[in-house]
Amino acid sequence: MRMTVIGTGYLGATHAACMAELGHEVLGVDVDEAKVEALKNGKVPFYEPGLPEVLERNIEAGRLSFTTSYAEAAAFGNVHFIGVGTPQQRGSYAADTRYVEAVIDDLVPQLEGDHLILGKSTVPVGTAGALQERADKLAKPGTTVEIAWNPEFLREGYAVKDTIEPDRIVIGHRAGDSRAEETAREVYATPLSNGTPFIVTDLQTAELVKVSANAFLATKISFINAVSEVCENVGADVTQLADAIGYDDRIGRKFLGAGLGFGGGCLPKDIRAFMARAGEVGADQALTFLREVDAINMRRRQRVVDLSREELGSLIGKRITVLGAAFKPNSDDVRDSPALAVAGQLSLAGAAVRVYDPQGMVNARKIIPDLDYAASLEDALRGAELTILATEWDEFKQMDPVWAGGLVEKQLLIDGRNVLPVADWQQAGWRIWGLGRSTHEVCSTLPTSPVYATSYRQ
Ligand code: UGA
Repeated sequence: MRMTVIGTGYLGATHAACMAELGHEVLGVDVDEAKVEALKNGKVPFYEPGLPEVLERNIEAGRLSFTTSYAEAAAFGNVHFIGVGTPQQRGSYAADTRYVEAVIDDLVPQLEGDHLILGKSTVPVGTAGALQERADKLAKPGTTVEIAWNPEFLREGYAVKDTIEPDRIVIGHRAGDSRAEETAREVYATPLSNGTPFIVTDLQTAELVKVSANAFLATKISFINAVSEVCENVGADVTQLADAIGYDDRIGRKFLGAGLGFGGGCLPKDIRAFMARAGEVGADQALTFLREVDAINMRRRQRVVDLSREELGSLIGKRITVLGAAFKPNSDDVRDSPALAVAGQLSLAGAAVRVYDPQGMVNARKIIPDLDYAASLEDALRGAELTILATEWDEFKQMDPVWAGGLVEKQLLIDGRNVLPVADWQQAGWRIWGLGRSTHEVCSTLPTSPVYATSYRQ
């Protein structure tokens, strides 16, 4: 099939490359000339494991190209995906849908014949219906444009796998005549033939599925982080507690990783936009609990700053190393990153903060230029009076505590993700704090959680 993918950020670039990988002919479209130029040359403008290979392979095979021209996009094919961003509006919780609207405004007047536009961006419920009305006004006489919604569930760091082998495919379309299901069956023939669950529904349900999924994940993380606050006060261990409740398959261990909480370009803004939209559609009270989910999440960042102060006394001039800047490992995305938020707050409080992240440094520097960015893990640790593990990269999880102890000035560490083998670190002479655990009270028999650290965050 021939198709365009409009917007070439994390979502769009991955979708374009993976649709080509499935055998389709794909044109990626973006208004950002520099991004398009990079992609044309096989360069992914962000870090996503496995994506550069898929991109290069499909450009070489002639199935994948990129353009800034909407005229070219309109002439290329009859199926168009929208993958542009819907960030949080300035001064409001609501999502800013101006970029999806701009796609309709720029594309639709140039279309001829019968076209299907499949939205993938995360939007407030009701957006697809409004875009249909907008498209109907802009379409040339004799041209038909149908808007359907096909939400995306990919996780950064696993984007290629999640797109090629999704765990479900959801299509929402209008009542009456629609080509969306038939077209989606063709687009996703490969995953569907492998048994991927396929949910065909109305537009509103499809829009809500996406925000509900993210709101649920955020709630799960904040739930365990709320319990973690209680654990801290009574000397219980939240990681063991999570293992124990996680064995109940109605609960499940995934996303019960207590620590610094969630960040990124999706979960934080999606729960806020969902709350805002619920109010607009008259369900004001339905989602007020998400405000608490957000507050619990933010308190974890503050807790690490408070803990640092408790341990060091005044923060002024103290050398603190923050390991991690990306909002999660295997990503260079620093949007609403808990790691960077902590680094920034400590720096504002007067500490001399040094940051190291295997991939996120370039983006972190753009957001907070005046932190001290280290060239390597070793460089980051040298002379630290406090080390904070804020993003659970393998490089940090596998760090040798004896080696690290030889570099720092003070063997004091806050494990903000509860991923280090505490007993090993204590044996190497470290005083170690785990959020929601009484690990700082030296206890040589602290167990390592059996399902710990590797799989539950994915
Ligand atoms: C999230 C969803 O997981 C995807 O399904 C969705 O498609 C995507 O948003 C989106 O809307 O585009 P992503 O933002 O890549 O994906 O990140 P997650 O893997 O969900 O992690 C979010 C945050 O939660 C990270 O900061 C992570 O460190 C944190 N987290 C995750 C925890 O604090 N504890 C956990 O147990 C799991």
